[in-house]
Amino acid sequence: MHARAHDEVLGDLFRARGYDTAAMVAVAERVFREMLGPRNLPTAAARHKHLVARLALIGGIETFTALLGDWVLSTPLEKFEADPVVLDLFRWHGAEEVEHRMVAHDVAEYFGVSYPQRAASVVVAYVGVLLLIARAGHDPVRRDPDLPDHSYARIWFEFLRSGHRGTLPSVRRIGWSALPGLHPRFTPEWLGSTAQAVAYPAKSPAARAAG
Ligand SMILES: [Fe+2]
Repeated sequence: MHARAHDEVLGDLFRARGYDTAAMVAVAERVFREMLGPRNLPTAAARHKHLVARLALIGGIETFTALLGDWVLSTPLEKFEADPVVLDLFRWHGAEEVEHRMVAHDVAEYFGVSYPQRAASVVVAYVGVLLLIARAGHDPVRRDPDLPDHSYARIWFEFLRSGHRGTLPSVRRIGWSALPGLHPRFTPEWLGSTAQAVAYPAKSPAARAAG
């Protein structure tokens, strides 16, 4: 099962705090249903090619989400006074991302994705996810009265600053996670620890309440 339950809980939490999640959900729907969804193509060969392309891209996205999951699981965010309920939900979600990080990659390999296509997909996925994150950050940044302006440049600046402070993964950490993705024998297994991910739900209050 993919993270549905805590996605919903997180959405409720954000809406309860006054954030408008509808626009971002619509963007995500467009990306995952229209761009990464199945398409009615005329030939079996074209359908196969499209399937492999989608799997390779999803494998690249899962590499990024595994990095985020590993980061949120192994970073002591309590010292920044992170909301314990939101932090637990993010870690539970992160644990699932680490746990299933190889699935799309392995299926793409099974269907014969080439090395150049797989490596290019990692680069495209990283750029795409970063743009999605910037888009998702737009609403909270726009509502933050402490910020001097509400531009996209501000979002990137705050993103870099948070990476430097340790409240978000740093550019260096993101970059170092993308580089192995270009290795011919790369597997997302190189990122994060399955044992750590599998152990998390046992100590997560939200996962135990749902379980
Ligand atoms: Fe995932």
